[in-house]
Amino acid sequence: MSGEKIHRFLKEHRQEHIIRHIELLDKNEKDIFIKNLNTMNLELAFQLYENFSKPEEVKTYKEITPPYIVDIEKYKKEKEMLSIGENSIKAGETAVMIVAGGQGSRLGYPYPKGMYPISPVKGKSLFQIATEKVLALSLKYKINIPLLIMTNPETKEMIENFFNGNNYFGLTKECIFFFNQDILPSITPDGKLIIKEKTSIFANPDGHGGSLKAIWQSGLLDRMEKQGIKRIFYCHIDNPLVNVNDPVFLGWHIKEGAEFSLKVVKKREPEEKVGHFVISDGKPTIIEYIEFPDELKYKKDINGNLIFWAGSIGIHFIETSFIRKINKDGFALPYHRQVKKTKIDNEEKEIWKFETFVFDAIPLADKVCCVETIREDEFAPLKNKEGEDSPEEVKKAMMNFYRKKLEELGIYVSSDVKVEVSPLCNIDVIAKGLKDKEIT
Ligand code: UD1
Repeated sequence: MSGEKIHRFLKEHRQEHIIRHIELLDKNEKDIFIKNLNTMNLELAFQLYENFSKPEEVKTYKEITPPYIVDIEKYKKEKEMLSIGENSIKAGETAVMIVAGGQGSRLGYPYPKGMYPISPVKGKSLFQIATEKVLALSLKYKINIPLLIMTNPETKEMIENFFNGNNYFGLTKECIFFFNQDILPSITPDGKLIIKEKTSIFANPDGHGGSLKAIWQSGLLDRMEKQGIKRIFYCHIDNPLVNVNDPVFLGWHIKEGAEFSLKVVKKREPEEKVGHFVISDGKPTIIEYIEFPDELKYKKDINGNLIFWAGSIGIHFIETSFIRKINKDGFALPYHRQVKKTKIDNEEKEIWKFETFVFDAIPLADKVCCVETIREDEFAPLKNKEGEDSPEEVKKAMMNFYRKKLEELGIYVSSDVKVEVSPLCNIDVIAKGLKDKEIT
């Protein structure tokens, strides 16, 4: 929008304070401010504001029942799945997408979360660990697996420089693709945009669901498909234990003919802050912990086990054709309103952020496959500065995992010794008694 159009638009939406602010800027600042406004979809944000301002209907779920989940015993024992998955990887049909566009505000780290030095001995960053996992697989299967990293407009340059400065952690530069998710302005409960600095307003990335729009919008999906990619492994940057592109999981996904697959773990306690995988009104769905009805959260079977035990850990395989499907008639994922407190002019104020969640794609898929995994092997997310999911806890979980893997090889590491195993060390191959010549 031109300066004139923006002026009209702001007036229509009762943003006189922004108009006054613009009038006080010099020509150069004005241009930058308007350029910044033009980077986000203001129209959509005001539309969402209107929708969420209507008296809130309490979301009701008519019927919630437990879904079918491939349990851990069945999951691990199926050799056939490993071979199906490995064949797909070797044929170059998979890419890995890591979403790293979040603001990571709970961690209080001043840089993008992926740069956090999390590994317990070497201090490797989350980005390094994830990239080395992709490199290890690429070497093992003798195929370049593309790594797609979603950033946001504020962090992209810093993240790219971080990779560049570290030689792309051993992966070929041409195999890594950075792409931005959209941002949306944050809005006050009375419908106002918020001035952040002289030439910018408060804005937020549009949620991890934005990855399914951005990969399509940026043309990256087309490019991947042209290259023969059929499915994308999706994960969050905050989980250093993730089993990237897990071939057994991939085998299940393909065998089941799923458009969207997910991994779940048994919830630690009924209140754990994870999404609940359920069947809701006949459709596989994830219901966020805030919305999950209390009477079901605590419900147990006759053996005393939680009936709704499956917590989603943000690990998926998604067919590229499905991503295309949910974009072709306009992006199909619903927006959520997140009410957050933030410091504005040294005062804590409430703001509304609008986001989409990747798991809202699940009910739109024709076929969904869900497998159970072991928390200790695959889930230790870095979320908070202290306490649960803090760096200290994540490092502990990583060391326990490495100790367990080494013990399987007959190597015992005392619990008071710090331990770390490089993702480039192919422990499974070593475990089989083979000499690992390809990856050292
Ligand atoms: C999320 C899930 C929860 C799941 C948990 C697993 C939601 C609402 N809930 O919780 O069901 O059990 O992860 O860890 O998402 N991100 C972006 N762009 C954004 C927002 C987030 O790329 O706009 C990325 C972050 O960088 C991070 C990941 O998404 O890698 C998870 O985001 P986060 O906000 O930490 O999710 P949670 O609310 O903790």
